[in-house]
Amino acid sequence: MMVRKSDSLRVLLLRWLLAPLLTLLAIATLISFYSVRVATTRAFDRALQDPIQALVQRIVFVRGRPVLLMSQDSLRSLFTHVYDKAYFQIADDSGKMFAGNLNLPIPPSLMESQAGASHSSRMSRLSTAGASKLMFYNARYAGRAVRVGAMWMVLVDTNGVAHPLVVQIAETLIRRDRNLYELLALTLMPALVIALAAVALVSQGIRRGLEPMEALRREIASRSHTDLRPVPEEHAPLEARPVVMALNALLSNLAALIDGQHRFLANAAHQLRTPLAGLQTQVELLLREPLPADTANVLHTLLDATRRVTHLVNQLLALARAEPGAQYLLRLQPLNLADVVESMMAAWLPIAQEKNIDIGFELQPTWCVADKLLLQELIGNLVDNAMRYTPAGGVVTVRCYRSERAVIEVEDNGMGIPLNQRQNVLERFYRVEGSPGNGCGLGLAIVTEIVRQHQATLEILDTGNGVGVCMRVSFVRREH
Ligand SMILES: Nc1ncnc2c1ncn2[C@@H]1O[C@H](COP(=O)(O)OP(=O)(O)OP(=O)(O)O)[C@@H](O)[C@H]1O
Ligand SMILES: [Mg+2]
Repeated sequence: MMVRKSDSLRVLLLRWLLAPLLTLLAIATLISFYSVRVATTRAFDRALQDPIQALVQRIVFVRGRPVLLMSQDSLRSLFTHVYDKAYFQIADDSGKMFAGNLNLPIPPSLMESQAGASHSSRMSRLSTAGASKLMFYNARYAGRAVRVGAMWMVLVDTNGVAHPLVVQIAETLIRRDRNLYELLALTLMPALVIALAAVALVSQGIRRGLEPMEALRREIASRSHTDLRPVPEEHAPLEARPVVMALNALLSNLAALIDGQHRFLANAAHQLRTPLAGLQTQVELLLREPLPADTANVLHTLLDATRRVTHLVNQLLALARAEPGAQYLLRLQPLNLADVVESMMAAWLPIAQEKNIDIGFELQPTWCVADKLLLQELIGNLVDNAMRYTPAGGVVTVRCYRSERAVIEVEDNGMGIPLNQRQNVLERFYRVEGSPGNGCGLGLAIVTEIVRQHQATLEILDTGNGVGVCMRVSFVRREH
């Protein structure tokens, strides 16, 4: 069976269950409607026989000719229905009418089988005395559709002469049509109820049946992209278990792969750190010696490059630590953001002084639950950015306060981040074009990972004075 892209299992099941079910129901309704219609047509036809018999009984022979002996009143009472109009005629078998107000030809099919009898010898005519044949057919009379009951019979007069006669009664179809509509309503109504019930029950059944699949979908959809734990197989319906097992195998391979990459990155960065530190110390020592100017220049370039690589390695290590699934174990503890900022101030002041940046602090006791090392990493990166991307003479403010959440903000009046790049700067190795300094584009990626690890949020906001940027991180608040 071809499964189209847009077909959900629900739609497929609905289509395959409901379509045949409703078709069967429609066929059953049609069959029952037709059989009931045949039965009622027969009943109405049978009722038409009575007035025919009544007429026949009133035929007498006067001088060998048939005459209908019936008063107008009797006739009226015989044919006056509430709704329908009725007509009758009595004719001999050549079609010559001798009583009645109906003028319909005798149906040939009624006469065909009697031809032999009416044109045979006197003896054989006698032998057919008392024989009769009855038929019913639809016709049009006086501009209206009618049902006609026609009876051929042979009456024998007192002289023993046989008279083949045809009595026809035509009746309009009002009662029959009414009956038919009632019948239609009676057969359609239950069919409609059954159809609606079938649609409701089948949809409900499918919804219930697919509920475990839906639960599975919710379970997978609610996960963060870093959650690679296996999906519990026992929650999956039997039919979906192979899929879940395959998914779990994939997740476990993926987890192993990511784990391997983390390890590799952390190890490589760690291994690079020691020789880089050695290299930097050696160059710094060399630079203390009296050196020719161009050698000193080369050494300064070398020192600069070494510092950049050391910074890159440190950022890579920090990222490896902050990423989920890293070997680093989160040590969550209640922390006062103000304390953490104060403990880091000493490192920033000389840099701020060197760059001629006015760094200020607005610190209220603000408690949250966090990993101290990662929190320092986060704040460090934000303040580093603020000082790095604010020109000399600028102002940087670090503040923390309690609102709905525990908030820390680092605000500057520097170059700011264009609105359309605020998402991009969170990506690894992304730098706004023309950014000064020798950053490697990992700081905000590290911040993003740490924010995610702490279920915190990061906002990049405009400042009140139209320049610079305000980086706001909000943690879950903790009362102390
Ligand atoms: N306070 C800020 N003001 C202006 N631009 C900023 C600010 N903070 C970040 N940016 C922009 O976002 C980019 C990415 O910042 P991020 O901290 O991730 O990397 P980096 O500072 O370039 O390198 P790293 O932090 O890894 O040394 C920066 O290159 C800079 O263009
Ligand atoms: Mg940075």
